[in-house]
Amino acid sequence: MRLFRNGLGGWAVVAAVMGLVTAVGALAATPDDIIAERRAGYKHVGDVFKTMKDAVASDADVTPLAAGAGEIADWAKRVPTLFPPGTETGGGTHALPPVWSDRPGFDKLAGDLATQAAKLQQVAATGDKAAFAAQFKATGAVCGECHHTYRAKL
Ligand code: HEC
Repeated sequence: MRLFRNGLGGWAVVAAVMGLVTAVGALAATPDDIIAERRAGYKHVGDVFKTMKDAVASDADVTPLAAGAGEIADWAKRVPTLFPPGTETGGGTHALPPVWSDRPGFDKLAGDLATQAAKLQQVAATGDKAAFAAQFKATGAVCGECHHTYRAKL
């Protein structure tokens, strides 16, 4: 790679430029960008969850599902930052007004998801299918509870 011939110095420049791009990107994020980002994130979580559901239904090995559970836990920690004021409408959002009028309740459920998904990750790593199925159910209950109050029907 010719570009990085000068070794570490080159990487430092690349890192600096990428840092700048990230900073500018954060400044330029419009409400529509944020709504698109959270919808894409939830869609991914939905896909990961569907894979888990299929694995439980077919009694498949659950150890490969640990990574996806970890992704959900990480996602849940980011959720409270993805509903800033100004993103209540537009962009095809299905978020309901209580996200903003009852923020403590919403953030608590995001925290519950992080906790349950982290447990799911641990259980997946043990390979215990029955324990995974039970913890998958507990995790799914948090999804349902939050959607009941904070998300319109898709
Ligand atoms: C803390 C509340 C909360 C939790 C917990 C939660 N969701 Fe959601 N979810 C939402 C909200 C609010 C939206 C709507 C976001 C929007 O349209 O701006 C949403 C949207 C979605 C969507 C639709 C994305 C799209 O295409 O627009 C899917 C799929 C989804 N969630 C799956 C899940 C799954 C699976 C879980 C559990 C693993 C989960 N959610 C947990 C609040 C939550």
